[in-house]
Amino acid sequence: MHEDPRILELRRMRARALEGGGAERIAKQRAKGKLTARERLDLLLDPGTFNEIEPFITSSAAELSSESERFFGDGVVTGYGQIEGRTVYVYAQDFTIYGGTLGGMQSHKICRVMDLALRNGTPCIGLIDSGGARIQEGVKALGGYAEIFRRNAQYSGVIPQISVMLGPCAGGAAYSPALQDIIIMVDKQSFMFLTGPEVIKTVTGERIDPETLGGATVHATISGTTHLVAQSEQEALALARRVLSYLPSNNVENPPFRPNGDDPLRMEEWLNQIVPLDPKEPYSMHQVIEAVVDRGTFLELQSDWARNAIIGLARIGGYSVGIVGQEPSVLAGVIDIDAADKMTRFVRMCDCFNLPLVTFVDSPGFLPGVAQEHGGIIRHGAKLLYAYSEATVPKITVITRKAYGGAYVVMSSKYLGTDVTYAWPSAEIAVLGAEGAVNILYKKQIESAPDPQAERQRLAEEYRRKFNNPYHAAATGYVDDIIEPRETRPKIIAALTALRDKYAPAPPRKHGNIPV
Ligand code: HXC
Repeated sequence: MHEDPRILELRRMRARALEGGGAERIAKQRAKGKLTARERLDLLLDPGTFNEIEPFITSSAAELSSESERFFGDGVVTGYGQIEGRTVYVYAQDFTIYGGTLGGMQSHKICRVMDLALRNGTPCIGLIDSGGARIQEGVKALGGYAEIFRRNAQYSGVIPQISVMLGPCAGGAAYSPALQDIIIMVDKQSFMFLTGPEVIKTVTGERIDPETLGGATVHATISGTTHLVAQSEQEALALARRVLSYLPSNNVENPPFRPNGDDPLRMEEWLNQIVPLDPKEPYSMHQVIEAVVDRGTFLELQSDWARNAIIGLARIGGYSVGIVGQEPSVLAGVIDIDAADKMTRFVRMCDCFNLPLVTFVDSPGFLPGVAQEHGGIIRHGAKLLYAYSEATVPKITVITRKAYGGAYVVMSSKYLGTDVTYAWPSAEIAVLGAEGAVNILYKKQIESAPDPQAERQRLAEEYRRKFNNPYHAAATGYVDDIIEPRETRPKIIAALTALRDKYAPAPPRKHGNIPV
């Protein structure tokens, strides 16, 4: 029996679509150690679940109108599939076709999966590998990006949006991810910049390599743009799957509840010794977090940027939560501009996606000094206040040691609307540290004392006795209870259970005006 020629034609066309930019360009891609768009999607999604849509779309650019010059797909592979059995919409830019650059039709394809993701309440994941706006398409390319950016913004907080950066991501290819919830980069392989090295050379004559301009290390340690860095494409795609395991598919769903083998009543006795008696001595809040959450579930984000602050996703008693905290062993856990920005964005992401917030506080306050004041610490710190005040998800705070001044207030303090506030016996809740406080309060008394230094020390000691403990705050209701550190895990799990059905609608408004 002869095959129907129309079926044969479909197969021929399909094979051409699967070729991407052709064997030569695929070989070039492989020579750089990179996978193709479809190989990447296969790794991202549950096996056999990818279904492509619009594979036959071609560029609309007049210059590329001859049949042989037209590539199917227009530099992006789009469709849907499953991750751990949950539907996601995906797009993967194909660098073998016009460098994965964005023209009108590529934009159409990406917008289409974004719209489908929104309509169906599912996450949207982009695998980015692109030279940005396609030069030869002119304003069509720019308008195409605007279409995507608008959707990124309007769908923000409705469905999770994740970008995995797998190559050079220039111009709009960097801006769209910057509007999304999570960015994952591959070390030494992905780069993000608004203007590429070629453009910089033309404008300034300066030669700069992509790694120095916007490699993963730059964005993980200096700019704070990326949340996670992987050592390979495989690891990056696995990380995207892992991130999703903590998130709901949309803002009206609860995050996945995943009980695991870790005993909810587990107590770590050594936590009772972790805070040194000397308040100037550091300890590791990372260790505290790892001890409290379900074993192996803490996924720290932006771990190498603003390291005095800690943010990350975790599970506690199977509940997905957002963890925020200070790291007393880095700059004593002080809050500076970058730390405020880092925590703010994360608090808002958790609030969008119904992730309860668990905050661990040990901070001497905002970083003082001209650089911070001139850099706008008031504005940046205000964002954090705003974010915690605005968040309606369950909020639980544990004050492990210092909660001085602004740090006490902004770090999810009780009257910002926190549901449960615990203090460890080592908590020090005061407007200022002892030395600073007595220098201001008793300036004249110290100066006129026969031995000013001894007098200062005596007064500081008195101040410490009064304020460097949690009982003063507990007596006035500013903390809900004082708990032994080892009890922290069961106490948090009990609170999460009690707060599971929290209902705290915000007053109706178009949107607030966060001091960005
Ligand atoms: C059209 C482009 C392109 C572009 C790359 N190509 N960038 N085509 N428009 N913007 C094409 C190349 O001509 C080449 O085609 C193929 O993609 C691969 O590019 P190479 O340069 O050979 O690859 P590589 O050496 O890996 O370098 C990749 C690169 C570099 C770092 C991305 O090409 C580059 O710097 N491009 C310009 C990046 C840039 O500045 N974009 C900003 C656009 S403005 P062939 O046919 O040889 O395979 C923008 C504004 C958006 O995006 C709005 C923001 C608000």
